[in-house]
Amino acid sequence: MRTILVSNRLPMTVSVDDGQIAITPSTGGLATGLRGPHQKNGGLWVGWPGDVSNVGPDQRESLDQRLVEQRAVPLHLTDEEHERYYQGFANGVLWPLFHYLLDKVALESRDFEVYRSVNERFADTVAERYRAGDLIWVHDYQLMLLPAMLRERLPDARIGFFLHIPFPSSEVFRILPWRTPILEGLLGADVIGFHTLTYMRHFAGSLLRTLGLESQVDRLTYQGRAIRLGAFPMGVDADSFATMADSVDVLAATDTIRKEANDRKILLGVDRLDYTKGLPRRLLAFKRFLERRPDLCDKVRFIQVAVPSREGIGPYEALRRQVDELLGHINGRFGTAAAVPVHYLYRTFSQTELAAMYRAADVMVITPLRDGMNLVAKEYCACRTDDDGVLILSEFAGASAELGEAIRVNPYDIDQLSLAYEQALEMKPAERATRMRALRQRVQNNSVHRWVRCFLEMLTETPEGTPGTRSSFTPKAIMNRIIEDVGSAAGLHVFLDYDGTLMPFVSAPELAAPDDELRALLVSLVARPGTRAHMVSGRRKDDLERWFGDLGMGLYAEHGLWLKPPGEDWVSLTEPIVSWKEKVRTIMEEFLDRVPGSFIEDKTAAVVWHYRDAEPEFAAHQAKELRTDLTAVLSNVPVEVLQGDRIIEVRMHGVHKGAIVQRILAEQPGAVILALGDDRTDEDMFAALPPEGYGIHVGPQPSKARYNLRDAVAARAFLRRLLGTGVPALALIPTNPLSLTSESPFRARLSGFQSFNC
Ligand code: UDP
Ligand code: G6P
Repeated sequence: MRTILVSNRLPMTVSVDDGQIAITPSTGGLATGLRGPHQKNGGLWVGWPGDVSNVGPDQRESLDQRLVEQRAVPLHLTDEEHERYYQGFANGVLWPLFHYLLDKVALESRDFEVYRSVNERFADTVAERYRAGDLIWVHDYQLMLLPAMLRERLPDARIGFFLHIPFPSSEVFRILPWRTPILEGLLGADVIGFHTLTYMRHFAGSLLRTLGLESQVDRLTYQGRAIRLGAFPMGVDADSFATMADSVDVLAATDTIRKEANDRKILLGVDRLDYTKGLPRRLLAFKRFLERRPDLCDKVRFIQVAVPSREGIGPYEALRRQVDELLGHINGRFGTAAAVPVHYLYRTFSQTELAAMYRAADVMVITPLRDGMNLVAKEYCACRTDDDGVLILSEFAGASAELGEAIRVNPYDIDQLSLAYEQALEMKPAERATRMRALRQRVQNNSVHRWVRCFLEMLTETPEGTPGTRSSFTPKAIMNRIIEDVGSAAGLHVFLDYDGTLMPFVSAPELAAPDDELRALLVSLVARPGTRAHMVSGRRKDDLERWFGDLGMGLYAEHGLWLKPPGEDWVSLTEPIVSWKEKVRTIMEEFLDRVPGSFIEDKTAAVVWHYRDAEPEFAAHQAKELRTDLTAVLSNVPVEVLQGDRIIEVRMHGVHKGAIVQRILAEQPGAVILALGDDRTDEDMFAALPPEGYGIHVGPQPSKARYNLRDAVAARAFLRRLLGTGVPALALIPTNPLSLTSESPFRARLSGFQSFNC
């Protein structure tokens, strides 16, 4: 099975110096981490090879050829795309926001459209290369719209997405003006992966808060497709780092570094020069350490590697100036004619050179303010086959969830950090060895190869092209066939739920009055020869009376407790039992106080707690508790506790929409039934349909119905198409199809019902 990796940056970066093209390995965890698996497993990698604007057209062709030989598919960005998609939106808005650094977010951004159009270009490029059976694996925040764009082009493809940076709390994510398209973009994937469970929970929280989409721990259904969420902590190729670190060349380089330090203890930092990495505070903490321990001033050396990154973006430029100033200050104050305390190396090193530095460092200092994972921390541990060295690690790096034996620090707490330097430098060899052994073991167990395997296994489990789980809604051709079938039926009954089926949800039930278009549609349906239309709702009878009483439909209120044949009065189909209602109301009132924005609706034989307008996460949690409480208290009472769309309803046992269908079938065994509904209470209706009946679920959730439509708009369009079909002969409906059984005390009152609608 072939994997197509897709990321903004390819694992190799092209640069041009004096007209000469150079291809060098890219830095950054995504590229360094996935490079090995890509080489090992084959497949393609689609991405940007870096800025090649000064490469001539003839050179461009041979360059692309060289990349293709390494199974890389280059997607070149124009200057404008680079400036607005890469620098402007991805790194000027998403990067700082997702790292909780709101002061670094661009004040105003107009670059989203370019971000969208570059994602479209990626989608076109991937779709061109795609072959049936391929796995597509999209990476990182630059391409968050891509999964949905690919889903549109390749409905049956298996698409995975992995986010290499933190997913922030929904409180921060909701700041993003483009939060809805970003989430919808990600939901095109079958598997969405994060480094940690916390990021995954944050994502689920944002889905609930922004889209109102609930997930069951690590699963959710969206547009009829099952989506899996997962925490997959990325690792490094621990074995090859270990082999590299033990090689003769690296050990010789390690010796050289140590000799140059002249018996000084070495602290090491290795980062892209990025404001998320916490360099200024790291240096300030070192200054504080030197102030507190003047005795150690000439006994330590801080080597800081800073890889130039994202130059040309304002906050990166500012950081560079700030770091330069701090370095000048510290080295000026604590340096001597023979040595300076901080060795600052502003350039990129190869991984072999890094391995030598890791091996030489007594203390590795990793103090990001936020970091999705931080692979440098793991590389350091993987290289320490000598079981020595101490890792200082920020608690805000994803890696800290796994690397418990590190000295964990709050990178904002400069005092604590300076004490951590001291603790690390003075740690006894036995403790160093114990901690490092455990760290290295864990890094080895959770290698990058395992990470790739786990993610792709989950993605592979996704069945390819299985109807109902993958292609989201019933195709129009099939819906048209249903229309043909039922359009010519002799005696068609159309059962319609109202809220969520014909009408989108609104915050208060009384605001959901039908619009003129819907009323006209229902009037036509009622007038359609050979057709009987029934409104089957959970609403109270006065709502249905007010809105549909004059249309000539059969009305069923409170899930069928009440029936109103056209032109008749309401009758109850079962004697309501209500003795339990007070108890239920008392319990619900407690939750009313707890959950602002929620309210209680009182029906004849049901009580409903609505929480559509309440804070979604909190309310969903409280709803679970309410259900548990109600179920416990009502265990011996003849009622049902139902979870609906942002409601909990307790209703009398035995009253459900399925009974209405059964009643019609009992009276008219050959009736053709078309039923449309959207929620749990409509499932009873679908379950009661005969095999030849047509159940249509409206909305993305799983359902017993055989067919599904996207939403109320699609449901109305479907009914309009039904109205356009050939009209069957008049008077095909047998007499008295909706009458009650002969035992019914209400039979006499329903005499006028038999003639409606023919
Ligand atoms: N790196 C490198 N050369 C350098 C500095 C860093 O190849 O001079 C690599 C380093 O080995 C690591 C990656 O860049 O694999 C940095 O990944 P990390 O997850 O620590 O941070 P990111 O840059 O992705 O934010
Ligand atoms: C982080 C991001 C990657 C990115 C890398 C280097 O690791 O998660 O997506 O490639 O930084 O940044 P750059 O902007 O140079 O690609």
